[in-house]
Amino acid sequence: LGSEWWVEFFDELYHEIYSMLQTEDRNRAEAQFIAEILELGPGSRLLDLGCGFARVATHLASMGVEVLCLDFSEKLLSIALRRIYDMGVDDRVHLVRGDMRATSLRGSSVDAAIIWFTTFGFFSDEENERILDQLAHVVKPGGRVAIDLFNALRALHTAIHSDAEGRRPGFTWWSEEGKYLVLESIEFDVLTMRSRSRRVIIDRESGARIADRLIDIRMYMPHEIARMLTSRGFEIEKILGNYRGEPYRPLSPRMIIVARKH
Ligand SMILES: C[S@@+](CC[C@H](N)C(=O)[O-])C[C@H]1O[C@@H](n2cnc3c(N)ncnc32)[C@H](O)[C@@H]1O
Repeated sequence: LGSEWWVEFFDELYHEIYSMLQTEDRNRAEAQFIAEILELGPGSRLLDLGCGFARVATHLASMGVEVLCLDFSEKLLSIALRRIYDMGVDDRVHLVRGDMRATSLRGSSVDAAIIWFTTFGFFSDEENERILDQLAHVVKPGGRVAIDLFNALRALHTAIHSDAEGRRPGFTWWSEEGKYLVLESIEFDVLTMRSRSRRVIIDRESGARIADRLIDIRMYMPHEIARMLTSRGFEIEKILGNYRGEPYRPLSPRMIIVARKH
């Protein structure tokens, strides 16, 4: 596991950088959106697979949902632990450290499950699919799952356009929010459908390079996710393109698949 990028990547620095973009208002609105698309209410049992620092789980718990949060990152789970006490939802959020590829959760034990904010595609194709086996096992018949991914078609479109401008296939972005400058260059491998990027984080005041990290994610096309879910006993209910619930389009920022277990 030591060599896998995701073991090191999800740490305090991840939390610090993403917290600048993911304000509590946004987190609460996302939680409300999740409750709507999954029809969750007080007493519903939800599995949040790869919950991170319980960013949305805490807000769902404030709405009365019982959330089982699973993540591998000790660092993010310790932030999550602080958050659930600070937000007074420690009785409704259960934090578990584990690997989402093998959760050993009881069958049909939850009403719904989420894999939220690009938390799918980190492993080999076979291992990624094994996670959906876990979902099929743990969600009750009639229960729902929502998988929220970066939209692969949009990533592909961006890669193709930067190619047309004469650069290597791939693209670059930077963000100058707060303390850090984040530089990222992305290469898209169409043979494996993996997006491989290098992210360099610079402290703006000192100019020091404080992190240099690689990210490697399999991007899934809508039809692939649909087939992977339907072959495991799910029926696709909808596919949305953003957190406002608008329909999916090829260049939507997100690809959010909602499916129901037979
Ligand atoms: C992009 S973050 C998203 C976190 C959260 N879902 C959210 O909406 O903020 C991906 C999360 O997946 C977790 N993760 C990565 N590999 C994992 C694994 N093998 N098992 C469990 N969690 C894992 C990371 O630690 C990280 O918290």
